[in-house]
Order: sequence, then C-alpha cells, then structure tokens
Amino acid sequence: MINDIKRLKNILTESGIEKQEAQAEIDFILKYFLNIKLEDIILGKKMDSNLIKKAFEIIKERAKTKQPLMYILGFTIFMNNKFLVSKDTLIPRVETELLIKTCQNLINKNSKVLDIGCGSGIISIMLNKLKNCYVDSCDISVEALKIAKANSQNLKSNVNFFQSDLFDNVQNNYDLIVSNPPYIPLKIKDTLQDEIKKHEPHGALFTNDDLGIHFYKKIIKSSPKYLNPNGYIAFELGINQAKFVKDLFLSNHFQNIKTFKDLNDIERVIVAQKLE
Ligand SMILES: C[S@@+](CC[C@H](N)C(=O)[O-])C[C@H]1O[C@@H](n2cnc3c(N)ncnc32)[C@H](O)[C@@H]1O
Repeated sequence: MINDIKRLKNILTESGIEKQEAQAEIDFILKYFLNIKLEDIILGKKMDSNLIKKAFEIIKERAKTKQPLMYILGFTIFMNNKFLVSKDTLIPRVETELLIKTCQNLINKNSKVLDIGCGSGIISIMLNKLKNCYVDSCDISVEALKIAKANSQNLKSNVNFFQSDLFDNVQNNYDLIVSNPPYIPLKIKDTLQDEIKKHEPHGALFTNDDLGIHFYKKIIKSSPKYLNPNGYIAFELGINQAKFVKDLFLSNHFQNIKTFKDLNDIERVIVAQKLE
C-alpha cells in the first residue's frame, strides 16, 4: 500500500509538478478521498482497492491534463467544510478565510448581508452558518449558482441565491455588502500558472482595467442605495490594490477604513463604513 502512495506521487512529479505541490496533493487525496492516515498505511491497514484504483485514475488525469486537482475531484475543503467546485466556480482560496473572519466581527444574528459574486458560495454559506444571519447572495454565472445552491443544501445553510449582474437584481438593503470580486488585470494573465489561466473561469478572475479595480469601483459607487445607515462594505483585495480601493472609498465618502494583512503580510482585506 505504501508503494501505491509512492507511485501516485511519482506520477505527479514525473509530469513536471513540483515535489512540494505533489506531496500536498497526495496528502489531500489520502485525507479527503481515501480517508486514511499515512501512519495507518505504514501500520499495514488495508485500503479499499476500488478507491485506490480511482485514486490512480484521478492522479493520472491530473498529470495528463494539468487541471487543478480540486476540479477533477469535484470538491475542496474550506474552513473544515466540504464544498463542491466545478469549472464554473473559482477554487476557494485560503486567503478568503480572512475576509470571512473579518466580516464575522462586523455582524450579528440580526444583520442582513449581501455577497456579490458568490462563486461556490463559501462566503455566504460560512457567514450564515457562523452568525445565523440573513444572507442574500448573487453571481452573474447561472452555473456557479447551481454549485453554490448545492453546497448550501449539503451544508444545511440558509442563503438566498439569485442571478444578478452586480446590483441589477438586488432589491434589499444591507448592514454588510461583502465581495471577493474578480481582481486580476487581464494584461498580467500570461504571468499566471497554467492551472489557473487555462482552467479557472475567466469571469471569476479577470478585469479589463490596468489596476484590477473595476469591480471595487462599481460596487462602491452603487452601494449607498443598498446600505443601511452605518452599513459596511468588505472586500478581498489583490496584491497592491489597498491604496487604490482606499481612495475609492474616501472619494465616495466612506469612513472607518481599515485593512487587514494575510499571513504573507499582504493587505488582503479592506473594510469601510457608510456613516449616517
Ligand atoms: C473571485 S470569484 C469569487 C468567488 C467566491 N466568492 C470565492 O470567494 O471563492 C468572483 C466571482 O464573481 C462573479 N462575477 C463576475 N462578474 C460579476 C458580475 N458582474 N456580477 C456578479 N458576479 C460577478 C464570478 O462569476 C465569480 O463567481
């Protein structure tokens, strides 16, 4: 059995995938697909032969197509919960946990929240589960919304999903508008890893402007109509975008602007308040 695990890793490294990444992917397969600990294999515990066979198929496909592992598996783990993903949704990133944790401190169970660009639904679903508050959640992509709804059902959350191009179909007012919008300038597409640029949905990643701030600008400008007095906006940010988004908030008369750094010391989250 331990030899099977070594062979799985070799298939990945021989296809050109970095050793560290290959190890992380094998660890993920062991924990969340084969449901077994390496120690148990070493101690001689048998694995289900059908599952091992399937693991070889998955890893061979990963090596051949270079599709992200999570798309081949059809799920990822985010904040200890299993979320379905598909080629129509961004694969949730660990950075987004900081956005969710920041939002947690801005709301309570009576708050009304809007998540713009929900993708697989991670932000909406986690905020609803953690705070038991009302959450509306929209995306322009009908296909992404199907995945978000399935996740909400699987995780027993209560989120109201609907299709909308930004605020087009939004009808309520909110205490918090949260978004992790597309923020990568299209002009730097070629600098991204193939896994990202060839497989993740372009509509979830890229903006046409040079700074990647198109969506922040649009959301901030339209938001006053949809915010309750003293309501907040919270965004995830791309690298070096904090100063530009801060200026957008200031020029639209938002106050109490705060940024939060991720583990790599990057200003990753920004929050601002619309005072009465
Ligand atoms: C960076 S992804 C974030 C997905 C998810 N919230 C997350 O954090 O993993 C951005 C999402 O915004 C959606 N989106 C792009 N343009 C949009 C628009 N004009 N209106 C609403 N959603 C949009 C994309 O379909 C995508 O799901």
